Amino acid sequence: MKKLNSIILSGKEVLPLVEGGKGINASNAYSSGAWAHENCVGTFSGVSPDALDNNGNVILERFSKKIRAERHEEMVQYAIQGGIDQAKLAYEISSGNGRIHMNMLWEMADSERMIEAILEGSKGCIHGVTCGAGLPYHLGELASKFKVYYYPIISSARAFMVLWKRAYSKCSEFLGGVVYEDPWLAGGHNGLSNAENPDAPEPPYNRLVELRKTLNSLGLEKTPIIIAGGVWKLSDWEDYIDNPELGDVAFQFGTRPMITKESPISDAWKNLMLHLKKGDVILQKFSPTGFFSSAIKNSFLEKLIERKNGEVSFKNEPDAEYSHELKVNEHRKVYIKPDDMQKAQNQIDAGLSVIQETPDDTVVFMTPDDWKKMKQDRAECVGCLSQCQFSTWSRANGTTGKLPDPRTYCIHKTLYEVGHGGSIKDHLLFAGHQVYRFATDPLYRDGIPTVKELIEKIKIGE
Ligand SMILES: Cc1cc2nc3c(=O)[nH]c(=O)nc-3n(C[C@H](O)[C@H](O)[C@H](O)COP(=O)(O)O)c2cc1C
Ligand code: SF4
Repeated sequence: MKKLNSIILSGKEVLPLVEGGKGINASNAYSSGAWAHENCVGTFSGVSPDALDNNGNVILERFSKKIRAERHEEMVQYAIQGGIDQAKLAYEISSGNGRIHMNMLWEMADSERMIEAILEGSKGCIHGVTCGAGLPYHLGELASKFKVYYYPIISSARAFMVLWKRAYSKCSEFLGGVVYEDPWLAGGHNGLSNAENPDAPEPPYNRLVELRKTLNSLGLEKTPIIIAGGVWKLSDWEDYIDNPELGDVAFQFGTRPMITKESPISDAWKNLMLHLKKGDVILQKFSPTGFFSSAIKNSFLEKLIERKNGEVSFKNEPDAEYSHELKVNEHRKVYIKPDDMQKAQNQIDAGLSVIQETPDDTVVFMTPDDWKKMKQDRAECVGCLSQCQFSTWSRANGTTGKLPDPRTYCIHKTLYEVGHGGSIKDHLLFAGHQVYRFATDPLYRDGIPTVKELIEKIKIGE
């Protein structure tokens, strides 16, 4: 295994190893502080981070307001306080070693306001901000104002070029690096473009060379590329280290750090990940953001898959093709194809008796209990996203004007609950596609390692 040389990240010489940010509360001050302590980069999640009381105990989010826009404001205030508390604690745990980064989901409603307030309230503790899921145009300007480095997360050279031309060329001084996240392998949301086939993964090397060429053409020869998605052990990546075609690189680990003593996820979640097999993580498009994402195929996802498979197209008026009447509820009937009649009836007979329309002129079938829960989740929406397909909330306009989509789910609720000890069966569990490697990696044979022990292994290529 080649020796890992230090690299400058966010203004400091550190090991080229980064813990990726994971929301909600799947990376926090304890994990990121421990990574930084080992002279690496730790990234806490700025998506609904935990605020702490005077004794350091977590203050769980509770929303009291009746109106959604007011609950949204409550959520923003929790997030700002949480971001400041996590930043300060992470910095303290790091003992001033390494670098602390914060990750923000750009598609959060009011993400810019939250970044600004957190940076203002935790000056000196956060050295870099990473941002993915969308095109974070204003990130450069915002971070530069605080003399904090910024790192867009992109999945193609083209996406970086768009950001550069429109915004970053004006504030290149604090561009700390570019995170290339493999859209077929990484855990969490994935940046697959319409031109890319989710079933035809492309190897990262040529895409990274293209990114480096693009950076060089813009005079960014010294800007490091942080390789994320599918990184497990560095002996698999030796050809990427000290490679003149790629220039300076660092490696970001998202899934692997989740099984460490400092990782905030529940023991049940860790234990599940230790026993997964190849293929247990799937790339799918159920997120209410509209992005692809990679998560463990548990009963939460299986229910969504089943609902999607049971989907039936309809028309409002009968015609030669859509000839059979389907009663949606007391007041509404639609027309479906004769071939779909049996499919519909089978689901109704199996107890999926509530029929709901989607925004795409289809209906899906669900149990009365699932429908009750869906209504409750929508009623309790806190407007976390700038636009949400599940609830139709839009930060800009109040509503997207579309029908709420019953094929999606409330991502805030499910990630918050599982990030605070909720059931691993009934919630979304983001994970990368290499998660099956936990089961055979000797590091985990004798129990859960500390961050320090994990990094020692990573350094020697294991
Ligand atoms: C549970 C989980 C949550 C994640 N949440 C976020 C997030 O909120 N924002 C983000 O930019 N990336 C998120 N990621 C992506 C990671 O930061 C990292 O880039 C990715 O996991 C790397 O790929 P790997 O999983 O193959 O290691 C998440 C990943 C996981 C596994
Ligand atoms: S319904 Fe949508 S916007 Fe509302 S809290 Fe849930 S995910 Fe966020």
